[in-house]
Amino acid sequence: MAMVCLSDFEAYAKKYLPKIAWDFFAAGADDCSTRDENILAYKRIHFRPRMLRDVSMMDIRTKLLGTEISFPVGIAPTGFHQLAWPDGEKSTARAARAMNTCYIASTYSTCTLEEISAAAPDGFQWFQLYIHRNRAVSQNLVQRAEALGFQGLVLTADLPYTGKRRDDIRNGFRLPPHMKLKNLEGAFEVCKMSLLDPSVTWNDIYWLRSLTHLPIIIKGILTKEDAELAVRHGVQGIIVSNHGGRQLDGGPATIDALVEVVEAVQGRVEVYLDGGIRKGSDVLKALALGARCVFIGRPALWGLAYKGEEGLQDVLRILQDEFRLSMALAGCASVSEIGRHLVQFSKL
Ligand code: FNR
Repeated sequence: MAMVCLSDFEAYAKKYLPKIAWDFFAAGADDCSTRDENILAYKRIHFRPRMLRDVSMMDIRTKLLGTEISFPVGIAPTGFHQLAWPDGEKSTARAARAMNTCYIASTYSTCTLEEISAAAPDGFQWFQLYIHRNRAVSQNLVQRAEALGFQGLVLTADLPYTGKRRDDIRNGFRLPPHMKLKNLEGAFEVCKMSLLDPSVTWNDIYWLRSLTHLPIIIKGILTKEDAELAVRHGVQGIIVSNHGGRQLDGGPATIDALVEVVEAVQGRVEVYLDGGIRKGSDVLKALALGARCVFIGRPALWGLAYKGEEGLQDVLRILQDEFRLSMALAGCASVSEIGRHLVQFSKL
C-alpha cells in the first residue's frame, strides 16, 4: 500500500485497529463538531503566495525554547500508545528522535517515563502533566521527568473532567488488562479519570514552579483572556489546543483561536498549536498566523498503528516534505520569511 498522505494512514488505522481502539483515538466530545471544525477551518484560510523568490535552498528548521528541531512539527501528548503498537511510547520516542523533533510524553503513557527516556536518551522530550488529586503523585512525576532529562513541563489545562465521548461509553472503553498506565500504577484506578483534580487554578502554576526548574508550557488555551493570564503567571509557552475536540464541544477551531492568542501574547512567550493538522500546508497556515510550531495527535497514532516507529517516521517525513514544498510554492525559503502576509481568511 503506497502511503502518500496522512489520510492513507488514517484509512489503514481504521481498517486494522480493533474497533474499540480506533473509536478511542477518533473520539470527539458529544457530536464531534469541534473535532471536525479543527480540520474544516483550514479550508477557510487561503494563501497569498509570492513568486520568483529563489527557493532553491530551503531552511525549514526552527527552535522551541532554544532547542533546534528539524521542522516545526512535534508530537502532541496522547495516552495509551500500546493500543496502537506493542512497544507503545518507546516507539514514539525513537521516531521523534530519528526525525529530530519534540515528543511530548503523556501522563497516560503505557510505558514509564524511564522507559521513554531510555528509548531515545538524547531525544528532545517534554512531559505532559495532569494534576492528580494527590499532589504527591504529581510532584513525583514532575521531579522524575526533570531528573530524567525531559526539557519541558506541559500542563494540560482543559481536562478538569473528561469530555463526553459517546463511542467510548457505548464500547465500555477500558484498557486491556495487560496494559497499564505505568506512571500512575498504584495511584490510579485504570481508566477512571476521576482522580484528576478539578479544583486546579492558575495559582497551581506557582506550585509547579516551586517544584521544578523546567520551562512550563500550558496546553489548552483558546482565548486572549487566558493567554494574558498564562503570560502573567510566568509560563514560557502556550499551546493553543482544544484537546482534539475531545473536551468542550462547540468551542472554536484551534486555528481560529490562534489569532486572538497570538495578538494577546505579543511575542512575550512562544505560542504553539495542535488540532486538525493533516497536511504540510496546514502547518504553513498555522505558522503564518503566528504559531512557532504545531503538534500532531491522532496522525502520530495512525503512524504507530501502521508500522510502529517506522510508520510514525513515515508520517513525519510526509508532513515535512509537504511543508517544505508548500513553503517553496508560497515563496518562502526559510521559516523566518513566513508571516501574516501569507494568508487571508475567505469571505465565505
Ligand atoms: C489526546 N490528547 C491528550 N492531551 C493531553 O494533554 N494528554 C493526553 O493524555 C491526551 N490524550 C489524548 C489521547 C487521544 C487518543 C487523542 C486523540 C488526544 C489531546 C492531544 O494532545 C491533542 O491536543 C490533539 O490530539 C490534537 O488534535 P489532532 O492532531 O488529534 O487533530
